[in-house]
Amino acid sequence: PASTTESARGDVAVGGVPLAEVADRFGTPVYVLDEAEVRDRCRTYRDAFPDAGILYAAKAFLCRAMARWVDEEGLGLDVCSAGELELAVTTGFPPERIVLHGNAKSPRDLDTALRLGVGRVVIDSPAEIARLAAAVGPDGHQKVMVRVVPGIAAGGHDKIRTGTDDQKFGLSIADGYAQHAITRILDQPQLDLTGLHCHLGSQITSVKPYLVAVRRLVGLMARLHEQHGLVLPELDLGGGHGIAYRPGEPALDLTALARKVRAELADACATAGLPVPRLLIEPGRAVVGPAGIALYRVLAVKHTGEHVFVAVDGGMSDNPRPALYGVRYAPRLIGRPGTAAPARVTVVGRHCEAGDVLAADVELPADVRPGDLLAVPVAGAYHLSMASAYNLVGRPPLVAVRDGLARLLVRRESLADLRSRDVGL
Ligand code: LLP
Repeated sequence: PASTTESARGDVAVGGVPLAEVADRFGTPVYVLDEAEVRDRCRTYRDAFPDAGILYAAKAFLCRAMARWVDEEGLGLDVCSAGELELAVTTGFPPERIVLHGNAKSPRDLDTALRLGVGRVVIDSPAEIARLAAAVGPDGHQKVMVRVVPGIAAGGHDKIRTGTDDQKFGLSIADGYAQHAITRILDQPQLDLTGLHCHLGSQITSVKPYLVAVRRLVGLMARLHEQHGLVLPELDLGGGHGIAYRPGEPALDLTALARKVRAELADACATAGLPVPRLLIEPGRAVVGPAGIALYRVLAVKHTGEHVFVAVDGGMSDNPRPALYGVRYAPRLIGRPGTAAPARVTVVGRHCEAGDVLAADVELPADVRPGDLLAVPVAGAYHLSMASAYNLVGRPPLVAVRDGLARLLVRRESLADLRSRDVGL
């Protein structure tokens, strides 16, 4: 994070708090979140997109404090379950600034959304139209958007590409499913269609796919206008803005994205003879990813013929991303000076499989040893939110740092927590 400072003794402080102190006080593994960095990133989005609705994608990371910060910074929220929705609303997040996503929304998701008064439900499948209309009831009203698939391949890994035709999300424009579903939505008087949505994928580092998406979505809006006289006031381009996980990696340029999307949207709408809709975006990773750090304690160092394995006290249960997407991180030694010459090592986790590798082939001081602390930067998004109970290790706590103070936001999952769900014998 921007607030990182370093001393010659190897101390690294974030938000004015030495990370080694956080590790000693709260134990390891532990996740640290820099509140100022999260807020700064929210403001960067507001500055870059002053007229747009910015919905933070809660799936990247959500806790009550995070919901409050995002609310205070004037952003809305994208949720994809009753769980995320309820956590946000019970924290005081205004429900009208929340949109509900999901390709398979459960009855509980829809009921919770209607009960709490969610701002928009994003319809993802034909089956959802009748279900939602019935749940709303004959006298009710619900604003909806429809998730369309523009047929665009973008994103950092196959598993996080959602803009291509022929996958589980949304309704394809090219195949005519989108238009067909929209006709059916218009037949339901209790559903007010406010606009089109698409989410191309995640960890996208180029502006280009977003511009193609603007063209294709406005093209569909033009056909809807011709056919139904429909003028949709909103257009949601989803999230997916890529960040650098290691020094030197590319990140999406938000200023360029804002400028070019605005120009493309104005131009496409002018050509189609349509008013320019209000833009919505849904960044998750780019808001919270760089604000988080994972801290681990080294438990074992093992030399084989070819490798040095540095084993830490966390692993794929708190960070499944290297195993799932082959993402590379840059861990570093903290808490003592790393004076020894650098050596190539592989940082592995504590879980019971060989694929539990946190960082393959990275440089650490050659004298790295048990008891050392390792910090993994850019750990704020899709780590804790994807953490599992694998091997019943217990999920790590989350500590917020700000102005020299450390505050526990989410406590460590205890053995009692893990045992408490096991109710049969
Ligand atoms: N909007 C929708 C509808 C989404 O499905 C997502 C992410 C976002 C917004 C936010 O995308 P972001 O700005 O965070 O890239 N677990 C994967 C990422 C999965 C993203 C799922 N959807 C990872 O760790 O890379």
